[in-house]
Amino acid sequence: MSTVPAPIDATATPAWEALKQHHAQLVKEGIDLKGWFAADPDRVKKLSFEAGDLHFDLSKNLITDETVKLLADLGRAVNLEQRRDDMYAGVHINTTEDRAVLHTALRRPKDEIGSIIVDGQDAVKDVHEVLDRMYAFAEKVRSGEWKGVSGKRIEHLVSIGIGGSDLGPVMVYEALKPYADAGIDCRYISNIDPNDQAEKLKGLDPETTLVIIVSKTFTTLETLTNAREVKAWMLNALKEAGAIDGSDEQNAEAIKKHFVAVSTALDLVADFGIDPENAFGFWSWVGGRYSVDSAVGLSLIVVYGPERFQQFLAGFHAIDEYFQKTPLEENVVALMGLMNVWYVNFFGMKSHAVLPYTQYLHRFPAYLQQLTMESNGKSVRWDGTPVTSGTGEVFWGEPGTNGQHAFYQLIHQGTEVIPADFIAFANTANPAKDGDQDVHELFLGNFLAQTKALAFGKTADEVRAEGTPEQIVPARVFTGNRPTTSIFGDTLTPFALGELIALYEHITFVEGTVWGIDSYDQWGVELGKQLAKQITPAFHDDEALATQDASTKGLIDFYRKHRK
Ligand code: F6P
Repeated sequence: MSTVPAPIDATATPAWEALKQHHAQLVKEGIDLKGWFAADPDRVKKLSFEAGDLHFDLSKNLITDETVKLLADLGRAVNLEQRRDDMYAGVHINTTEDRAVLHTALRRPKDEIGSIIVDGQDAVKDVHEVLDRMYAFAEKVRSGEWKGVSGKRIEHLVSIGIGGSDLGPVMVYEALKPYADAGIDCRYISNIDPNDQAEKLKGLDPETTLVIIVSKTFTTLETLTNAREVKAWMLNALKEAGAIDGSDEQNAEAIKKHFVAVSTALDLVADFGIDPENAFGFWSWVGGRYSVDSAVGLSLIVVYGPERFQQFLAGFHAIDEYFQKTPLEENVVALMGLMNVWYVNFFGMKSHAVLPYTQYLHRFPAYLQQLTMESNGKSVRWDGTPVTSGTGEVFWGEPGTNGQHAFYQLIHQGTEVIPADFIAFANTANPAKDGDQDVHELFLGNFLAQTKALAFGKTADEVRAEGTPEQIVPARVFTGNRPTTSIFGDTLTPFALGELIALYEHITFVEGTVWGIDSYDQWGVELGKQLAKQITPAFHDDEALATQDASTKGLIDFYRKHRK
């Protein structure tokens, strides 16, 4: 069993009490971003940070110098720095699964081989062995040396996986599209809904397609079902195309040329019929939602190349180092996590929006939903005792400007206050002009306008001064004081993307540490999986139906009447 000490109850610390009083004082005086900006000409300077090559402006948050100090005190009160160092060193901080949590080892450079020995294993050495194998494999596919069973080069990947074995790769694949340079694309199949697979396989030439099965456990129902179906599709389609004769021997050869796998369970991969030479491993100390920079990112290495993947890993590592080496008061990564605690536990805010102002990050909020909510959506602490405060806010979002025309109304004027992270880049892969207007500037103007409107609002007098009829003045008032963080980068490079992912990994860690929860297990997904196994037979089997609750029975009756 893990020997991690019981969590410190943050709510019982003097730091928590100080934050409570500080919050009450701010509310009493009136939260007033406009006033705070006017009173302190250095506010932006004091609340701006550089981490890696990203710039952070925290000034439009509901914080003062004092808040920053008190949040850092809270971090110290729960031994945040010690726990961070324990995580980096391979201590089994995932207590309920008795595992190390070492995603930071996935991006350590080769010269750090020997620095982390976990359970008798040199983690960084193992990481680089697999990376080197993946890079060699990817080069073969990219150069055309790797051929399908009929001698054609690979032009398409199909990656099968779900949750952490899908969301990260899809998000990065979408984000880095301008860097695709080998004429290879990838389609990702995740849902067990047969429609997902049917649509993704449409129009694919099996002779030029390579399938990557990605599953940490290699037991996940959705992934294994999809993998078996795609195997059948591939063998059938190759036979129909005359590429193989359907004999066991030729089928095995086709699987060798068209299927590879990524998993921690290499024995199960072999059972599936995949050549161990075409299997890439990772380790139990990599959580699924923390795995995009492990072998789980194989599709990305093939599409974008080893060099880009190395830059991606370097971006993660830059933030890992920053997070470890920067004092808490100046550590924007830690402060963003602590500030989320401030909003959830002291203001009672229940959700957090992430709004990328780059279309390439359109899957980033979905990726963050698993990262943050599967990690911190919990009610017990790492020693099994109940939590002592609220945990796990809802993360959500869509890229701007689309979100502006959908849900920003609620962010600007709703009764819920929703802290939001805006992410933007100074350069775009596709510069465009509309007449004389630089369209990227038009886009960025929106990012700045939204954060300004949220922070400073518009008073009734300002609305009246525009000649607005008195009756509709209230509807046109913006309260302001709606908190935002602006994250600004130069360009959405592989490096910057690695930085962004590591940033949110560590924000999640900081929040989990304050709440005393094990952010690295996910028992909450198990009950539904078990029940699905019990319920599925009831569609046809009356005995199984009889054991169900009345609502489930009613729904199955509906199904039986309507399924054609
Ligand atoms: O939904 C639960 C979960 O275990 C996730 O944590 C994980 O990312 C996903 O299923 C997929 O698991 P695997 O990679 O083992 O197929």
